[in-house]
Amino acid sequence: STDEKRKMADIHELLAKLYHHCLLHTKQGRPALDYLENRGFTRESIERFQIGFAPDSWETASQFIQKRELDINLAEKAGLIGKRQSDGKPYDRFRNRIMFPIWDRTGTVVAFGGRVLDGNDEPKYLNSPESKIFQKGKTLYGLNLSRADIRQKQHAVVFEGYVDTIAAFRAGVTNGVATLGTSLTEDHAAILRRNVQSVTICYDSDRAGVEAAFRASEILTKQGCTVKISQMPDGMDPDDYISKFGGESFQKDIIGASLTVMAFKIQYYRRGKNLRDEGERMIYIEEIINEIARLPKAVERDHYLRQIASEFNLSLDALKQQQIQTFKQQQ
Ligand code: UTP
Ligand code: MN
Ligand code: MN
Ligand code: MN
Ligand code: MN
Repeated sequence: STDEKRKMADIHELLAKLYHHCLLHTKQGRPALDYLENRGFTRESIERFQIGFAPDSWETASQFIQKRELDINLAEKAGLIGKRQSDGKPYDRFRNRIMFPIWDRTGTVVAFGGRVLDGNDEPKYLNSPESKIFQKGKTLYGLNLSRADIRQKQHAVVFEGYVDTIAAFRAGVTNGVATLGTSLTEDHAAILRRNVQSVTICYDSDRAGVEAAFRASEILTKQGCTVKISQMPDGMDPDDYISKFGGESFQKDIIGASLTVMAFKIQYYRRGKNLRDEGERMIYIEEIINEIARLPKAVERDHYLRQIASEFNLSLDALKQQQIQTFKQQQ
């Protein structure tokens, strides 16, 4: 019911305040604050994103909930607390973690992401499970904070997670959102499209990130977005890049240098290939032709075919023949 949802959201709102207080104003929060400062989080970003800390205790949240006479069963449903099997006594699920509140589109806290401090605690990231108020596939992290900038710049940047979104904010990229440990869904794309047409995907520059970016670009394009992909040096993510090279370079050399999806693929498939080798060159050309064949607009297909023809000194006719064959094989 709406009453339950409201109560569940209230618990999150109050806990977010508690965690934020623990981070900034308690002795237990000190190592977490040091950790964040070492990673380059500014006070401004800690405030804007209401970052907090769940102390290394089994009963901080559960006692708080009980003292405030909030509904412990709803807190359990939302994955904030568990109940001991032996006697049903409630315990905190988020312990000794940096807490990132996750908001719905109206700016209400509906879930948390918790990251361990350094060390090898597993898992590194623990997110709230889905609940009546939190659906991952419909939640774009940070949209409540960045919506105005997205509309004003008429451009949005999509990141993998909250850490990258927050790092980007510090770098002056204030129009970022993130999907949360999940791939971009049609709902995500539709929500974005309602705010903006032009979208840049800025995922980790590892294999998983690039493949996820390709899938996301298709979904966004289907929803009517104009998509670009940006890329960091091999293996880096936006947060790594900003910590190493600074915000100005991130804006100019990464976001500013993002490529259309096809242009990105043209250089991505090239990596690690020796194009002077005839066999490798043929494989490369076939991969690109495959991609070009999937472009929806004839004008675009023509443009990229010409580009390949001229680069490799091939006739446009031969490429078109090859493309027709490829297309038939795909049917
Ligand atoms: P990554 O796996 O790339 O995190 O997930 P990372 O860059 O190694 O993490 P750091 O830099 O050491 O902190 C990227 C983002 O995806 C989300 C988180 O928001 C994370 O920041 N994520 C990842 C989840 O929500 N759940 C997961 O299980 C994994
Ligand atoms: Mn504060
Ligand atoms: Mn990653
Ligand atoms: Mn990463
Ligand atoms: Mn990272």
